[in-house]
Amino acid sequence: MLISAQDSVSLRTKCSRNITKKPTHHFMSWFTKFLVSSIGQKFIMSLTGIFLMLFLIVHLLGNLQLLNDDGGDAFNAYTYFMTHNPLIKTISYLLYATILLHAWQGIALWQQNKASRGASRYAVNHVRSNERASRNMAWLGIVIFIFILLHMWQFWFQMKFGTLPAVEVTAYDHPVKDLFTPVAAAFSNMFYVLFYVVSMVVIAFHLWHGFWSSFQTLGLNHKKYTPLIKIVGVAYAVLIPAAFAVIPLVFYFTRA
Ligand code: HEM
Repeated sequence: MLISAQDSVSLRTKCSRNITKKPTHHFMSWFTKFLVSSIGQKFIMSLTGIFLMLFLIVHLLGNLQLLNDDGGDAFNAYTYFMTHNPLIKTISYLLYATILLHAWQGIALWQQNKASRGASRYAVNHVRSNERASRNMAWLGIVIFIFILLHMWQFWFQMKFGTLPAVEVTAYDHPVKDLFTPVAAAFSNMFYVLFYVVSMVVIAFHLWHGFWSSFQTLGLNHKKYTPLIKIVGVAYAVLIPAAFAVIPLVFYFTRA
């Protein structure tokens, strides 16, 4: 085959460009391809999901301070610490980004699963169960996302931008914002209590599937550890939301 002089020049420049490509360049293009592939997207879902599950444990431990019968002393000191410590503030920004990324990727995967079912309507069963699981997770996730927005508007926004009265606490030698009073007021209202308890049930269902699924995506499949992780997952999915739900219930039935 004959090639023209012009073709030969362009071929040579193409080749030399390829030879001079740095390894980091290859890694970056592999990495971006991985991130947009369906397995890469699932990988992002599982890593962000694990981070959010860790956040829930920390958040629960902090909120359990509400149950101390001390008029909010420990809870107000805790929220002051959480909103002023530079490291925790930085992690908070990472948390907001993680919530958005998890939601965004979840919707994208759901759309893809829907599209793949459309293409193979009579195909194997696992495509269908896959689509069903991702659809359920997406709906539960959307409800949780709305819960988080309302919840942050209710408490977090007040803490950051509201004009809450200041109170003395034993842990600090200066007054801090009194977030305990609005939380206690909210949980003396039956509608808020119902809203929190129902949302925790939704979260439990989401975690029930999400916990095991996130470890599975990371490639965990081991004779000995898989059953253990499944048990831990179910325990986590039930106990963490249940403990969250106890807080408004205790306020409503014993403190109101
Ligand atoms: C009884 C249940 C709960 C109570 C009493 C509660 C209470 C609070 C309070 C007082 C704040 C603002 C102060 C702070 O930033 O520390 C807050 C922030 C927040 N809560 Fe909750 N929460 C509950 C459950 C949940 C659940 C189940 C989720 C997630 C699904 C959640 C997600 C968040 C997020 C993302 C923030 C913002 C955190 C930050 O700025 O670092 N909360 N919560």
